[in-house]
Amino acid sequence: MLSKLLRSSLVSGCVLIAVCALADDKSKTAIDPKLLPPPSTKQGVTYATDIQPIFTKSCYPCHGPKTQKPKGKLRLDTLEAVLKGGEDGPDLIVGDSAKSTMVAQISQQGDPDDYMPPPKNKANVGPLTKEQIGLIRAWIDQGAK
Ligand code: HEC
Repeated sequence: MLSKLLRSSLVSGCVLIAVCALADDKSKTAIDPKLLPPPSTKQGVTYATDIQPIFTKSCYPCHGPKTQKPKGKLRLDTLEAVLKGGEDGPDLIVGDSAKSTMVAQISQQGDPDDYMPPPKNKANVGPLTKEQIGLIRAWIDQGAK
């Protein structure tokens, strides 16, 4: 009797876990802002002074001025090009870094196929640091100037 009860509660427990895992999978595209590194507190963040140096080092190998065919049709070497976005349109929501797809991608959240830089890339570019992501977030939140 007891073992039967135990078994049935075990089974329903497993079913519950499976259902939760499924539900979790569906919500994959909505990024929980708590999973993103916090925005930097620095004021007056601009593309020219703070962001372009990060992009130059970590993104230009694939999205730069010398890239023959910029990946995802995205160039990151001028502010204008960054705001225009790539083949999927703008990757930033000016004023809202938490909802900007680029921030999810560089924070390695959401679809792993979209992580930037792509993990284990041929150009050997490593992931951005929390501080760099924080600066990019502050820049977007402050209007992406
Ligand atoms: C080693 C090459 C490589 C590096 C380095 C790299 N990317 Fe990418 N990026 C890609 C590829 C490839 C795609 C296209 C992916 C696809 O279409 O599925 C892409 C696409 C993107 C997109 C989506 C463009 C669109 O609108 O479709 C964004 C945003 C992006 N990258 C941002 C960055 C940022 C920011 C950096 C630097 C921190 C970076 N990438 C570094 C290869 C790279």
